[in-house]
Amino acid sequence: MKPILIAANWKMHKTLSEGQELTSTLINWLRRQKTSELQIILLPSFIHLTAIHSLLASDLPLALGAQNCHDKASGAFTGEVSSAMLASAGVQYVLVGHSERRGVYQEDHEVLAAKVDAALAEGIRPIFCCGEPSHERTQHTHEAYIVKQLEKSLLHLSPAQLAQVIIAYEPVWAIGTGHIPDADAIAAMQKSIRAVIARRYTPSLAEDVRLLYGGSCNAQNVQSFLAIEGVDGVLVGNASVQAKDFLPLLEAVL
Ligand code: PGA
Repeated sequence: MKPILIAANWKMHKTLSEGQELTSTLINWLRRQKTSELQIILLPSFIHLTAIHSLLASDLPLALGAQNCHDKASGAFTGEVSSAMLASAGVQYVLVGHSERRGVYQEDHEVLAAKVDAALAEGIRPIFCCGEPSHERTQHTHEAYIVKQLEKSLLHLSPAQLAQVIIAYEPVWAIGTGHIPDADAIAAMQKSIRAVIARRYTPSLAEDVRLLYGGSCNAQNVQSFLAIEGVDGVLVGNASVQAKDFLPLLEAVL
């Protein structure tokens, strides 16, 4: 059985010592559990990646991810971080297309496609986020909206490349709000995502691609998301930032 993926998006939270303390707490918890059912991916700020990486141990199911990367390999881009830099800091995963990047930083389909390519070129697995704003759901256009996000930024990949991508379905209106779609709606969307991949590639690749749900996931509701057919894990924001919220969430999964 493949482990359940739990990606912890710390966003712009936590100082260095707070991030180190949470990581150490998680490591102690994992050592006590001895579980092989989980794979946790920590997504701290760029400047803390190296310090957090130095705490990780290869026998634990705890990996490092970044929240963003630049779309070019290198160059005169002041203040930016390339995927080669991330790989050299021990990063194995990177978020691409989070709704905050799409919305606040106006990242479009083309730049996100280039970020996916840049990450894969360095052996980093993109966690590609897709999700509709609320008006798309009320107008029943949410499925077409997600298909377009996939078409424009992911479906140019070769089958071997796509197999490296983790797709996170995160309805924009569910992020940080406490509002969540019902289980049938999440299942329907996961099914549509796999159907698009099956049509463009093969049914077996569609089955193998790892799909996450994200948006207001916490200790109380995580089991209900993981019980949905096709959901391989969760992308957690707020509930991943404090040990008092994150450890109960992990305990609820086991
Ligand atoms: P949330 O964030 O869990 O706080 O809703 C999820 C995310 O932004 O990935």
